[in-house]
Amino acid sequence: MNTSVTSIKLVLLGEAAVGKSSIVLRFVSNDFAENKEPTIGAAFLTQRVTINEHTVKFEIWDTAGQERFASLAPMYYRNAQAALVVYDVTKPQSFIKARHWVKELHEQASKDIIIALVGNKIDMLQEGGERKVAREEGEKLAEEKGLLFFETSAKTGENVNDVFLGIGEKIPLKRAEEQNNANDEHESNNQRVDLNAANNGTGANSACSC
Ligand code: GTP
Ligand code: MG
Repeated sequence: MNTSVTSIKLVLLGEAAVGKSSIVLRFVSNDFAENKEPTIGAAFLTQRVTINEHTVKFEIWDTAGQERFASLAPMYYRNAQAALVVYDVTKPQSFIKARHWVKELHEQASKDIIIALVGNKIDMLQEGGERKVAREEGEKLAEEKGLLFFETSAKTGENVNDVFLGIGEKIPLKRAEEQNNANDEHESNNQRVDLNAANNGTGANSACSC
């Protein structure tokens, strides 16, 4: 078993209230909050997972979607190896915003950044909510722009781990490991989640509002 740890810097982008922080909360703590407060600036969290017997440490920057924080985003995506661009399947405006983020990432971020397009809140469709962004629209954008594509529910946990597993499998771990060799591994109390074994991970994490 390979005991080395590969760090993956990941940023979440998307319109306010689409569920970015809720996706992160589900991924790192397997939890959900009905009335999650808007993110101010950005939040930093980490989570370790095991993917194909390799330990991956996600270093997650969860950005604020409110317009007043828009100018901060480049600071967080500039060095990112992966990005989740999130929209709400019941909010067409949020899909337009997602297109904008994909374009900006392709123009401004690292050229080999792995991007996952994520349509969140699919549980609302079972609760009488109306779908306003067809699955096919998301798939088409993803195909055109070379993105991974998922529809998720942070509320039920559906597909949330798969997003991170998909990113982890797509990043050439060997190369990322070399880039991160200098990394200081001091968060040794993090639990690991084996994404191949469990659909909903739990684990300790470190978090701060920055
Ligand atoms: P900003 O930080 O302002 O950019 O918002 P955000 O994208 O981080 O959204 P957040 O996670 O704070 O969620 C906004 C609201 O949507 C909260 O009330 C969440 O409880 C709710 N929410 C998030 N994800 C889901 C989901 O999958 N399903 C449902 N039904 N509600 C969700
Ligand atoms: Mg947030």
